[in-house]
Amino acid sequence: MPEENLANDDIAAEQPIPGSAKSDKLINGSSQKGDRPVISVSHLKKSFHGRPVLKDINFEVYAGETLGIVGPSGCGKSTILKLLCGLIEPDSGDIVIESKDIGLVFQSSALLNSLTVKENLELALRERKMSRKDSDQVISERLSLVGLSDYIDAYPSALSGGQQKRVSFARAIVTDPKIILYDEPTTGLDPVMSTVIEDYMIDLENRLKAACIVVTHQYSTWMRTADRMLLMHAGLVEWEGKPEDALKSDNPYMKQFSHATKEGPILAGSV
Ligand SMILES: Nc1ncnc2c1ncn2[C@@H]1O[C@H](COP(=O)(O)OP(=O)(O)OP(=O)(O)O)[C@@H](O)[C@H]1O
Ligand SMILES: [Mg+2]
Repeated sequence: MPEENLANDDIAAEQPIPGSAKSDKLINGSSQKGDRPVISVSHLKKSFHGRPVLKDINFEVYAGETLGIVGPSGCGKSTILKLLCGLIEPDSGDIVIESKDIGLVFQSSALLNSLTVKENLELALRERKMSRKDSDQVISERLSLVGLSDYIDAYPSALSGGQQKRVSFARAIVTDPKIILYDEPTTGLDPVMSTVIEDYMIDLENRLKAACIVVTHQYSTWMRTADRMLLMHAGLVEWEGKPEDALKSDNPYMKQFSHATKEGPILAGSV
């Protein structure tokens, strides 16, 4: 598939919070990690039409933890997720992934418009040799979770943007994957539904010991779901740390980003 076709995700398969659901997980700054990273990325580089987007990206994600990736619009966050899924190829660098069992919540929901909600989810289950009864049950559970049981036979065009996003979320997790990549999972959702989705992300990480990456601009989402965070800018990681340290960081990039000021090294629209 030509890379240009992926630019818009038009493909099917997308105040610190006291006592946040994560706070009890952190022991000496790390989460309940497995021994080996499930995702390992080193010296990742990617350019589009000669313009470097990722210059040297390095990180690891362990089972049972969530890495948050933030950074200005256009800095390459979605590109990292597409590289991890194999939707596009890196120019150089290494990506080592322990499991092929990957769920991806696309930034744009990327549902197949010719299929109903139920059929979109069935497509994601097709490689699981499940009985019709089990498949119906798992689909109905996931749709109930995102509050869309009544829309099971609807076509995506009949759903609001937020409803499509929730179907995309249900589709990504229908197989209980070992690796879950979330691209703006709560953007466009109302605050209550955002909390429902965040709670479910935390539950999945704990229950499945999944290795998760969440790309998000939404403050509550990274505060509540991420164990560690990377801040990207101009193709590089400029800050790495725990979400609760972001607001008090002196790093000029994180300081500007977390306080949402115009003054600092991040120029609006520069990446
Ligand atoms: N398939 C492609 N062909 C050409 N350029 C691309 C392609 N995919 C991404 N780009 C470019 O790479 C840069 C990074 O895009 P990407 O979608 O990764 O940004 P992002 O950090 O996810 O931004 P946002 O926060 O707005 O979603 C952008 O300048 C974009 O135009
Ligand atoms: Mg993006």
